[in-house]
Amino acid sequence: MSRRLKTDIPGTDYRIDAERLPDLDWEQEFAKDLRAPGPLVLELGFGRGEFLMHLAGEASERAHIGVEVSRKRVLKMARRVARSELCNVRLVHASAEHFAATGLRAASVEQVWINFSDPWPKKRHHPRRLVQPALLERLCWALLPGGTVEIATDDVPYAEHIDATLRAEAHLENVFAPDPWRSEVPGRPPTAYELEWRALGRPIHFWRYAKR
Ligand SMILES: C[S@@+](CC[C@H](N)C(=O)[O-])C[C@H]1O[C@@H](n2cnc3c(N)ncnc32)[C@H](O)[C@@H]1O
Repeated sequence: MSRRLKTDIPGTDYRIDAERLPDLDWEQEFAKDLRAPGPLVLELGFGRGEFLMHLAGEASERAHIGVEVSRKRVLKMARRVARSELCNVRLVHASAEHFAATGLRAASVEQVWINFSDPWPKKRHHPRRLVQPALLERLCWALLPGGTVEIATDDVPYAEHIDATLRAEAHLENVFAPDPWRSEVPGRPPTAYELEWRALGRPIHFWRYAKR
């Protein structure tokens, strides 16, 4: 994770070296580019990054952090952000779990997005699933009251796991109640995976939970 960042970026390089995470002051980091960097917006596992680009473009005064475990995807996204006019995005090459453990501060986050994280269908691989009680607990610690966690999946067994894990987190409440989840959220931009799964007719599940 901590190999030196490559520099072949056509403009400003907004990647953050994971080694800096424990000491990083996000407010200071974003203050270079934003007048009043407020609470953070996170996307964990941004993949090709189109969703994060959309979020950051829609809210250009808000501070966005994308976290992705694939070095190649982080590099591609860094090039994409550099070619854009966006200066409110930072990219971290790390696992979301590592980022949550070292890069977050208490009560500093407004929104967390986890879109179509890998379902790991084999039972012995279930511990590798991103949505887990420990990660949610850490995210709750980092969220402001009223801050939201938004999760999406197309995979039915993973959906059952996500739903049970969200319900079990006492600091969160279901914004979509009485629905456990929704299959459409108007105004939400699709991610690359969402478009693929929709084209195959797979059911999409969206959750929105807020910190109490
Ligand atoms: C199925 S893709 C979905 C990508 C994107 N969110 C979308 O909806 O199009 C899952 C992404 O999560 C990344 N990923 C997997 N495990 C991760 C982890 N523990 N932390 C951060 N990213 C992770 C993968 O590299 C991949 O880019």
